[in-house]
Amino acid sequence: MAQKHPIIFFGTSTFGSSHVPALQDESVVSQFLDVLHDANISQIDTAARYPPDNHGASERMLGSVKAYSRGFTINTKVLFPGNSSAGTLSKEAVRKSVANSLEHLHADKLGILYAHTTDDATPLDEQAEALNEQYQKGVCEKIGISNFPLETLKSFIDICEEKGYAKPTVYQGQYNLVCRGPEKELLPFLREHGMAFNAYSPLGGGFLTGNLTRGTAANTRLTSAYGAHFARWYDRPEFHDAVRTLLAVIEPLAIKPSEAALRWIAYHSALGEADGVILGATKAEHLRQNLVDIEKGPLPREVVDVIADIGRTIDALGGGDFEVVPASLPPR
Ligand SMILES: NC(=O)c1ccc[n+]([C@@H]2O[C@H](COP(=O)([O-])OP(=O)(O)OC[C@H]3O[C@@H](n4cnc5c(N)ncnc54)[C@H](OP(=O)(O)O)[C@@H]3O)[C@@H](O)[C@H]2O)c1
Repeated sequence: MAQKHPIIFFGTSTFGSSHVPALQDESVVSQFLDVLHDANISQIDTAARYPPDNHGASERMLGSVKAYSRGFTINTKVLFPGNSSAGTLSKEAVRKSVANSLEHLHADKLGILYAHTTDDATPLDEQAEALNEQYQKGVCEKIGISNFPLETLKSFIDICEEKGYAKPTVYQGQYNLVCRGPEKELLPFLREHGMAFNAYSPLGGGFLTGNLTRGTAANTRLTSAYGAHFARWYDRPEFHDAVRTLLAVIEPLAIKPSEAALRWIAYHSALGEADGVILGATKAEHLRQNLVDIEKGPLPREVVDVIADIGRTIDALGGGDFEVVPASLPPR
């Protein structure tokens, strides 16, 4: 019998990007939906911001390939354009963003509607009211928060409780075998409040394929403008050491680093069955392979132990949290 794991989502931040020309082609994008359909995966993650070089193109592409009417649940995020999210969670901005998303997606309902990141210019009360308004209108099944620091999330929830607004039930943040920061305080807080954690970048944007460490990253996302912020973040001695330590234990077992990272997050991380893992891929074949790899089940004990050591080492060096620095992509 298949082992239980968190809910698998597929992230579409590269759909429609000029940095990944193949993903501007509807027939190529349709192949991803076919792979998901064959694997019984119905959850898609997108955002009004995606792709960062052409806001809205991911949602428009999902609309063109009829993802919603094909039965996929579309989870999206309120727009923040360019480098600044100031003013993007005002009531008016949220109304406009949601109306555009529904139109682009050819959908009348969303799964999760997320705040994509903090908005320092709009009072938190108004942000909570803005998301509550959409929930009360029946636009989304759940409210989600992404990338908020814990203190801001706490204040947001306090406001919802005080004002009787619908509370967020999902948090989306970066989490993978070298990025373990959420385990410390965020996850215990989410558990206390009955919130799920949807983990993005389970492969660190491609870093956990091992290519950057092995010097084989040419022509991958990490050497393109699209993946530059991941490369900047992960291209550090402690992360490369972690990959080398991982390779030493998995290579004799014929386990690929991407497979180890995905099986770890699916079966050995702090995530449970009500949480989510948001996969990324720019080739349908990679997506298919990743889904097959996850179904291989838990990792051998020696690999799990080494990954636990990696987590402790990175934590001791103070590097377990991903720093969210929104950046505009240069046009291609
Ligand atoms: N809320 C937020 O702020 C936020 C931030 C980031 C991501 N997300 C969401 O999470 C989703 C996933 O994030 P992510 O794309 O960073 O995920 P990821 O799984 O960490 O990285 C995906 C990249 O890994 C490489 N890859 C994947 N499978 C592979 C395989 N089998 N073999 C070799 N390389 C492989 C691909 O690189 P190549 O393209 O070079 O092939 C791919 O682009 C996004 O689409 C988005 O929906 C949300």
